[in-house]
Amino acid sequence: MKVGIDKIGFYTPGYYIDMVDLANARNEDPNKYLIGIGQTQQAVIPPTQDSVTLAANAAAQIIDQENKDKIDLIIFGSESGIDNSKSGAIYIQNLLGLSAHARAFEIKQACYGATAGLQMAKDYVHLHPGKQALVIGSDIARYGIKTAGEVTQGGGAVAMTIASNPDVMALSDDSSVYSQDIMDFWRPVGKTEALVDGHYSNDIYEKFFNETIHDYLKHHDLSFDDLKAIVFHLPYTKMGLKGLRQILPEVTVEKQKSLLDEFEASRIYSKRVGNLYTGSLYLSLLSLLDNSSDLKVGDQIGVFSYGSGAQGEFYTGILQDHFRNPKRKTLINKMLDSREKLSIKEYETVFNSLPSITANDYELSIDDDHAQFVFGGVKSNKRQYLKQE
Ligand code: HMG
Repeated sequence: MKVGIDKIGFYTPGYYIDMVDLANARNEDPNKYLIGIGQTQQAVIPPTQDSVTLAANAAAQIIDQENKDKIDLIIFGSESGIDNSKSGAIYIQNLLGLSAHARAFEIKQACYGATAGLQMAKDYVHLHPGKQALVIGSDIARYGIKTAGEVTQGGGAVAMTIASNPDVMALSDDSSVYSQDIMDFWRPVGKTEALVDGHYSNDIYEKFFNETIHDYLKHHDLSFDDLKAIVFHLPYTKMGLKGLRQILPEVTVEKQKSLLDEFEASRIYSKRVGNLYTGSLYLSLLSLLDNSSDLKVGDQIGVFSYGSGAQGEFYTGILQDHFRNPKRKTLINKMLDSREKLSIKEYETVFNSLPSITANDYELSIDDDHAQFVFGGVKSNKRQYLKQE
């Protein structure tokens, strides 16, 4: 039985900054950001959106009544959690009107969380073929103003339903994983910005990619020629290119060109949004599905997931009959094109307006946020989520 991604949806809020503006404000050559980092725009997340509302807004795009009847597992992968006890999944279950008989919980391992959820959901659906799972990766990437990581910020969520006989991509039964206790990127409890050893994190990412892809191909008796494309976790899009370049010397010139072409299709959306942490890999998959003209049903796609700290995983998927979805593509492009561009000063004001993580009573104005789900503030230590028509 095939099990995999049946639907996939994405949400990012209505503001962005231009990377040329950011480079100018930081006295950097714009080509460092545009080419060296591979980003053209970056999502700016207003205080009225958090990991829960981003996730609910992404999931709302794909959930219909049939999903509501079948989903009995909700997995929320995030490293931007809003509570040390209560999971984001429970809020999402309520906001979306999902069944009270569903298991709902949150998992964390940096950017790897959504992949962990996807793999658990796949195994679950194999055991319960009539059921479906909702897996969401939702995050806000924050490093701080004027830090080296600033150009790699971003935010948003990707939601996926996992089902038998999926419309989009059937997942391989197993994968190759590699994990090691290292300090390349972390966020101690109470801090709103990540700490990172940037260049070290790049090296570890490449190492884990090499380990997992070679292990996977060896154990499945596959070669690079069997992979139509490889999608990467994209903390910034040049990182995926650095990963891909690791294996290019092992393939023919013709295959190099084809893998590079598919990679370009896979980074179109991320270039405009930045890092979504848990959702980034799946935004890259979405971008490939929407923007490659060369894919066909039955093609095998390599998928590399990486979460600092660190966990890597490589698996493959086979494209299914309805992997292309023009309506989904139109919706995403409309969402990205209709965002309002902020000046660097305006972005800094938004960045600094994030209420303290320990503030226990405040109200946010939601007038400017037209998303379906918004965060209205905190009342007596309780977060207030609202649904707008
Ligand atoms: P930096 O030191 O500012 O940049 O930090 P740099 O000097 O290394 O330059 C970056 C690239 O731009 C280099 O290319 C330069 O040559 C090039 P590379 O050697 O990498 O191929 N460059 C130019 N290119 C064209 N024209 C120019 C020009 N000037 C320079 N004029 C760094 C960059 C990524 C380290 C920093 O932004 C950072 O710390 N980011 C955050 C960490 C990160 O994203 N790490 C990625 C791997 S870890 C990961 O993916 C997990 C993560 O998502 C978290 C999680 O798991 O939860 C982060």
